[in-house]
Amino acid sequence: MTSRANSAHARDIAYHVHGYTNLKAHEEKGPMVIDRGAGIRVFDDAGKSYIEGLSGLWCVSLGYGEQRLIDVATEAMSKLAYYHGFNHRSSDVVIDLAEKLVSIAPGRLSKVLFANSGSEATDLAVKLIWYYHNAIGKSEKKKIISRIRGYHGVTVASASLTGLPHLHGDFDLPIDRILHTTAPHYYREGHEGESEEEFATRCADDLEKMILGEGPETVAAMFCEPVMGAGGVIIPPKTYYPKIQAILKKYDVLLVADEVINGFGRTGNMWGSETFDLDPDFLSCAKQLSSAYLPISALMISDRVYEALVSQSEKLGMFGHGSTYGGHPVAAAVALETLKIYEERDIVGHVRNVMGHFQDRMAILGEHPLIGQARACGLMGALEVMKDKDTKTPFEASDKVGAYVEGRCLENGLIIRAIGDNLAFCPPLITTDAEIDEIFDITQKSLDKAETWVQDQGLRDS
Ligand SMILES: Cc1ncc(COP(=O)(O)O)c(C=O)c1O
Repeated sequence: MTSRANSAHARDIAYHVHGYTNLKAHEEKGPMVIDRGAGIRVFDDAGKSYIEGLSGLWCVSLGYGEQRLIDVATEAMSKLAYYHGFNHRSSDVVIDLAEKLVSIAPGRLSKVLFANSGSEATDLAVKLIWYYHNAIGKSEKKKIISRIRGYHGVTVASASLTGLPHLHGDFDLPIDRILHTTAPHYYREGHEGESEEEFATRCADDLEKMILGEGPETVAAMFCEPVMGAGGVIIPPKTYYPKIQAILKKYDVLLVADEVINGFGRTGNMWGSETFDLDPDFLSCAKQLSSAYLPISALMISDRVYEALVSQSEKLGMFGHGSTYGGHPVAAAVALETLKIYEERDIVGHVRNVMGHFQDRMAILGEHPLIGQARACGLMGALEVMKDKDTKTPFEASDKVGAYVEGRCLENGLIIRAIGDNLAFCPPLITTDAEIDEIFDITQKSLDKAETWVQDQGLRDS
C-alpha cells in the first residue's frame, strides 16, 4: 500500500501549483484526483463516479472514451507527429481543418489562424486588431472594450479583457487601452421598474457614452461572448445585440465574437453568433473544437482584416506572428474528426432535442426557495442562489452558499461549478434526457440539503 507521505495527494501538494484554487487551502485539503472517464462520467482515484455537469471546463462535448477521436489521434501521430506553419509550410489535416471551419463559419469570416488555447486566440485577436488599424493608417484607433463579468482568458491581454476583478488583483492588470462596459445581466443589473427592453437600451447607451467619452477615433473593437459563460452564464436580452451592433457600426468599431464556450452547438445552433444574429469581424473558438481531446484554438477573420494583414506583411517583409504548436497536425486531425462527428451524428439537432427538457428542469428549480433565477440557453445554464428572492438580496460572499451546494452535488456524484452563488451547468452535448434527469434530481436533493443548512446556520437572519 502507498504510504501517506508518498501518496498522489501528498505529492500533488508538494509539487503541483493549481490554477483557480486557494493555494493555502490546497495545502490542507489536497487534490481531488480524477482517474478516468467514460461517456458523461468521470471517476476519482477511489472509483467514485461523477456526472461531469460542466463538461470539464465547458469543453468535453462528446464525453469521454470517444473511440474515433482516440483512433484518429493515434493515426495522425504515427503519420506526422509534428509540423508547423512557418515559412510557407503546411500539412494536409491543417489545410482540411481550415477549409472545414471556413465552410461552417458564420457571416463574413473567410480565413483561419490556429493557436493552442482560448486565451491565445484572444491575444491574437488583440494583436491583429492593433496591426489592422496600423495597416489602414488609423494608428490612434487601438482601445478595446469588453464587458464586466466577461471572460476571455488569462494571458496578459486576455486577462485584461476578462471583466472579473480576481483576475486583475495584484497582477497589475488590466493593461492600458482596455475598457469594460455594463454586463447585459438584466436580473442583477436592471433597475427597479425598468423593462428588459429599456435595460438593453441602457446597455447600448452606456457603450455609446464610453465610445464618445474616449473618442471614437481611439476605439478599435469590442469583445463579446454571445452568452457569457464563466462570468455566471449571462444571457442578454433579445434586443441587446441589435442595439450594440448598431452602435459598433456607427463608430466603426470591430466586433470579436468569443465563441470559446458557445461554439459548436452549445446554444442550439452551430454558433452563438447565429443564435444571437451577430456579424463578427473576428471569431475565436477552442474547447469543443476538439471536444477537448487535444489543445487547439482558432481565430477566424474577415477578408477586410485579411487584406490588411497581406499588405502589412508585404510592407514589413513578413507577418510577424506564429507559434511552435499553432496548427499542430495531431490536434488538427482530432478537431477535424470532432467536426465530422458533429455533422454525422447531428449534434446540433441532438442539442435542440434535449435542450427543452434541460431548460424545463432548470425552470422547476427556479422555484426552489434558494434560487432567485434559473436561466438557460441551449445546453448551458445557471441557477442563481439568493437569500431573499422577493427583494433579490444575495447572501454574503463569505457565507459560501454556492460552494456549499456544489459540495453537496459532489457528494451525490455530480460535478457542477459554483461561480460565486451562480451554479453553472454545461453538460456534454451528447447528454440524454435520462441523464438530464439524473443531473437535476441530484441538484434538487443538494439544494434541499443546502436550504436546511442555511436555516440551521441562521444565514437568513443576518
Ligand atoms: C469565452 C472564453 N474565452 C476564452 C477562454 C480562455 O480559454 P483557455 O482557458 O483555453 O485559455 C475561456 C475559458 O474558459 C472562455 O470561456
